Amino acid sequence: VDEKTRRAAAAAGCPHALAGLPDDGTQLQPSPTLRELRANGPATPMRYTGDQLGWFITDYELAKRALADERLTIKSERFPERQGEHPRANTPDDLHTQMDEQAMESLSAANVLGMDGPQHDKIRRAMITRFMVKAVRGRRAEVRAIVDRQLERLLSLGSPADITSQYARPVSAYVHCLVLGVPERFVEGYVADYEESPFQTQFELVREVVAEKAQNLGEDALSDLLRAGLTDRETEGAAWMLMSVGRDNVERMISTMMVALLSHPDQLALLQHDPALLPGAVEEILRYGNPFLGLLVRTATEDVTIENFAAEAGQSVSVSAVAANRDPHRFDDPDRFDVTRDAFGHLGFGFGPHSCVGQQLARVEIQEAVGALVRTLPQVRLLHAEQLEPMALASPIGLHDTGTVLVEW
Ligand code: HEM
Repeated sequence: VDEKTRRAAAAAGCPHALAGLPDDGTQLQPSPTLRELRANGPATPMRYTGDQLGWFITDYELAKRALADERLTIKSERFPERQGEHPRANTPDDLHTQMDEQAMESLSAANVLGMDGPQHDKIRRAMITRFMVKAVRGRRAEVRAIVDRQLERLLSLGSPADITSQYARPVSAYVHCLVLGVPERFVEGYVADYEESPFQTQFELVREVVAEKAQNLGEDALSDLLRAGLTDRETEGAAWMLMSVGRDNVERMISTMMVALLSHPDQLALLQHDPALLPGAVEEILRYGNPFLGLLVRTATEDVTIENFAAEAGQSVSVSAVAANRDPHRFDDPDRFDVTRDAFGHLGFGFGPHSCVGQQLARVEIQEAVGALVRTLPQVRLLHAEQLEPMALASPIGLHDTGTVLVEW
């Protein structure tokens, strides 16, 4: 019996294995199953596509160690079994039918979320300068100006309004354009259409943007890529990455932070009374309201042992940021939303070599967007938030979706 058949039999025969991620929770009220799993041990067997048995990690310490372990590669083609039916569960073969050969080459040259080692380091280094603390600090006033403009627009649209689509989405998209340095004539199209566009259309826009940028370099992330001495494919792939990742998560966190505050009036009052609590409150929502039920699936490149945890070579490993962020061994009274706590150390931005490139910018965006909203509209009330009931996951790795957040004032 070959190894693959042996594993398939083991997967089929394991009575305790999860069939997929427990998706009966929400961003603010995670599945109760996570608590049970964590109480039973740091990791639980889970079935993945291709009849594979792997692991779902719910313990904070093990989560960190796994994310930092270079024997667990991020290069993976599997999804948790049940979520493998998700409309966005594209295999590389599927992707081939959705984009041209050049785009495929660009992706394999620069998809930092699908590679490890020196190539990952090289592309990450070329991306990161404009997202570091000092660079982001220098952008705060411009972020604030974008927020003010969007808040004015929200007020002019009138109450009731959807915070997700009418405020969080444009704020994150315009700030993305600012820091990346997307040339002016592409900005409105990017804000309105990019996210929903097919991959091929996205790549065609990225090509135009990069070509125009090359004629007129500036102090921004796309110009940095062009100055970094990358190949054309690497530049195109890295530009696509930067234009494609992150803005949806900023949108998610702005909306979810508003839902959390409006449904915890005592915490909102604390924040309104003392705006200096805002940075800590943002860390707290990244801990308490994190959308990553599962981070990207890792694969063991060899037999891996971490304390009592053992993954065989070839097995898939998913780390739950949601579960780790509510591990009572790491965070006291973890199911309490407390804007005064020290939530630092949460896994909301991942951990290790793939930790979020845009995290400093994201923090500033959420602080500015939420701060301005609760200051300007102290009387704002929550009418309805789709995310308060379980929703279909936004991605096959297990990403809670945001939904509409209807408020009135
Ligand atoms: C609140 C907002 C955000 C959240 C919660 C978030 C979360 C994350 C997480 C959890 C990862 C690691 C995934 C994994 O290890 O499986 C990640 C990676 C990444 N994020 Fe973010 N992100 C946010 C905003 C941004 C922004 C604004 C950007 C800017 C372009 C960005 C760019 C990236 C990139 C490039 C990576 C890949 C890093 C690598 O593989 O080396 N993110 N993010």
